[in-house]
Amino acid sequence: MVASANPIASQVGATIMARGGNAVDAAAATALALGVVEPASSGIGGGGFALVYVAAEHKVYVYDFRETAPAALGPSNFLVDGKLDPMRSRLGGLAVGVPGEVAGLAQLVARHGALSWRRDVQPSVALARDGVPTPWFVALAIGKVVARLPEDPRFTTLRALIAPGGTPRAAGDELVRAELAATLEAIAMRGPRAFYQGALADDLVATVAAGGGVMTAADLAGYKVAEREPLWGEWRGMKLATMPLPSSGGVVILEMLGILDRSGIDLASLPFGGSAALHVIAEVMKHAFADRARLLGDSDPATAASLTTKLLDPARLARLAKRVALDAVQPHDSYGETGVAPKAVRPDGGTSHLCVIDEAGNAVSLTTTVNGYFGSGLVTRGGVVLNNQIDDFQIAPGAPNMFGLVQSDLNLVAPGKRPLSSMSPTLVFEGDRVVGCVGGAGGPMIISGTFQVLLDMFVWGQDPRAAVSAPRIHHQWLPDRLAVEPELAPDVGAGLKARGQTVEVSDTRSAIQAIRVRPDGVREAASDPRHAAAPAAVP
Ligand code: GLY
Repeated sequence: MVASANPIASQVGATIMARGGNAVDAAAATALALGVVEPASSGIGGGGFALVYVAAEHKVYVYDFRETAPAALGPSNFLVDGKLDPMRSRLGGLAVGVPGEVAGLAQLVARHGALSWRRDVQPSVALARDGVPTPWFVALAIGKVVARLPEDPRFTTLRALIAPGGTPRAAGDELVRAELAATLEAIAMRGPRAFYQGALADDLVATVAAGGGVMTAADLAGYKVAEREPLWGEWRGMKLATMPLPSSGGVVILEMLGILDRSGIDLASLPFGGSAALHVIAEVMKHAFADRARLLGDSDPATAASLTTKLLDPARLARLAKRVALDAVQPHDSYGETGVAPKAVRPDGGTSHLCVIDEAGNAVSLTTTVNGYFGSGLVTRGGVVLNNQIDDFQIAPGAPNMFGLVQSDLNLVAPGKRPLSSMSPTLVFEGDRVVGCVGGAGGPMIISGTFQVLLDMFVWGQDPRAAVSAPRIHHQWLPDRLAVEPELAPDVGAGLKARGQTVEVSDTRSAIQAIRVRPDGVREAASDPRHAAAPAAVP
């Protein structure tokens, strides 16, 4: 079973398994296909995280193939006449982190796949060469990007991709990516080295340089996937494996679940989707997002371990849980630790999540991203859309990123570092059997969306389709505003306001994918209707 953000990509994964591939082959093939058909969100110019459960070994592997800051990049690159220019980390060459996607997916397949890398890449070569109808979500992203992309020769190649002849591609228009097909063919035949060294690498470095960036051939040649230990949590008699730092996703989700567990509030006794339950969920979010803003960043392993231990310390979780009231909010500065100034939230997020569980019980939860829609706006001659992951760093102390997230100074941009992420690939276990796979897209709403779908499936017993479809809320502490989706009934909004929440109806959306394995072994998958997505099963 494959749940991804695009029906064609989900089908690629299912077909790979029908041809003898396992969940890892399917995940790699699906991720590559997503990059071809949904270039607004992900692709080989980006990076990601994957949790891989190998059933025969009873072991979860964690692969971090997130982008790294080039060796010559630091905070001074983002100053103009001594003042921060926030656009430099969002558009153009300085925004581009060293892409990890190809190295990561190739390592997954080499370590755990049943098929060859070449066979897993081949479906994406065909999709890029033969074309697909432009997906609805991509057309939506194109409309937003075309409206705000500066008239600048650096973005000519992107314009040709998204608005050929000046007309933005509409949903259903044929999307052929011939240059990318050739690039993928080279990577399929010669392996990841073809991307990190030689002609493709030269093309990438030249594109970044022409875009005003500082990435070098040595940065690319030196890229390394980081293998990490999963972050484990216990919850309702189950075990959760999730993503450790440099993702904030795992620790924030476990912190929220830990506070909830100690609050004495039985969420299951409150009506599903009602204001009482959503108020409690919002209060828990505020504590954990306040901690995210103040404390988290990519750090050396010892600091990361001590931060995680501090945030998930049971005594601390119990103290925070005491401050969760059923019918009131707390003074804003009292959530988590102490405060910094409020900033605005921004809605966009170019990220994609996929879940795969195969017949043998192997599972992959993988999130991949170019960060903003179409990343940095730079596209190589080989058709690779380059990320703007550098904007996930703290560029200057106290400055918010494009999601309005204020971050700890531990997340300051520095050579070789990986920016703090919200990506939250998660697997849920009963004993050593995977019973759930969840994750999503949407910047900080990845964390709140994944959290809510976990609650919906495992507290209220909703099936994955109902869980991912249910209207969601999001509170990231800064700003002090509870975003609620318009589909929530008006009396729910009124109930939240009556409890003291500052409610704002918002179309900010996360796109969550989920698979649940029922006790009888039947796998149920759902892809988020907000993204017009669909899962696929091996026939
Ligand atoms: N670029 C989105 C994330 O990593 O959270």
